[in-house]
Amino acid sequence: MAIDNIDRTSMSSMVNGFPQMVGAVNPSTDAIESAKDTTKGVCVLGMGGSAIAGEICKGLYSERAPIPITCVRDYALPKYVDSDWSVIAVSYSGNTEETLSAFAEAIKRGIIPFVISSGGKLMDLADPKRFSRLPDSFQPRAALPLILSVELPLIETLIGQNRTNLIQIGKKLADRKKEWTDNGSSPNQIARRLSGKIPLFIGSGHLQAAAYRAKCQINENAKIASFHSILPEANHNEIESVGWFASKDILPVFLRSEHESPRIRKRIEATSEIYFDEGVDSIHLNHANASKLEEILLHIYHLDLVSMEIALKQGVDAVAVERIARLKRILSQA
Ligand code: F6R
Repeated sequence: MAIDNIDRTSMSSMVNGFPQMVGAVNPSTDAIESAKDTTKGVCVLGMGGSAIAGEICKGLYSERAPIPITCVRDYALPKYVDSDWSVIAVSYSGNTEETLSAFAEAIKRGIIPFVISSGGKLMDLADPKRFSRLPDSFQPRAALPLILSVELPLIETLIGQNRTNLIQIGKKLADRKKEWTDNGSSPNQIARRLSGKIPLFIGSGHLQAAAYRAKCQINENAKIASFHSILPEANHNEIESVGWFASKDILPVFLRSEHESPRIRKRIEATSEIYFDEGVDSIHLNHANASKLEEILLHIYHLDLVSMEIALKQGVDAVAVERIARLKRILSQA
């Protein structure tokens, strides 16, 4: 689907264009051919907005993939990633130093990484046969659906799974948005419930990446504090801190799934009950009749829109990430 009508200077236009970006680009044919080779594992490199697609793929396939999928959001490459592994380096700008560092380490180990970027140093360093170019001028975090459109088919090929029809999913997202009206689920209504609060997004299984993405979008678009946690793990630590939630205005938001196991369902309900008894109300978000990937993307799209509503209420420029840019400038001088 064409993405030419999306205004790449407007976060609102980019977030609203999410459904049409899903499936709008493809990995290069050469990259897909190379991905058919046998591999021992898949290691995805990337930071911030460029890391989310890898986390989505990992969450989606962790139980089904015959080989490990690991995501590295750091400078170093794990020791076990040897020349029999496949590495995918993702950086929208192509200039992120952590990603470049792990990429260089992969080359040293005799790996020819797959590269996904819109340009930058990573594009210059990439093997042209393993390079897939993204459309330029997007904010990296807004380019998530484009990155996923390249990365998911690549990973599906590497792990020997059938390719997902992303165009169809994009259409479903666009249709579902029409249902997020004033019945309590509209992004504006959710934003109002979150007003003055610190959202704590809680996800489990395949929805971990969506909870993490929501936290990041609220931080970067709305410029307010936000956190995420994971179940069942949070039941073994975070639950003890609920006494603080009310006094610090922390509002738990559970990302629910029709695919959650009976044990996880019971855990979420019990956790929510304990929180309620301690004076903490929580929000439960759900998207019915959707596959696991559709659920992940529905939660992400919906909460991306919520982050924009909060940005509007806060009166901040959603697109600008001045502090990230400043930090990158300082580090580049060192
Ligand atoms: C900005 C954003 C950031 C960047 C991150 C890494 O929109 O989402 O989180 O993604 O600073 O930069 P890139 O994606 O260029 O490797």
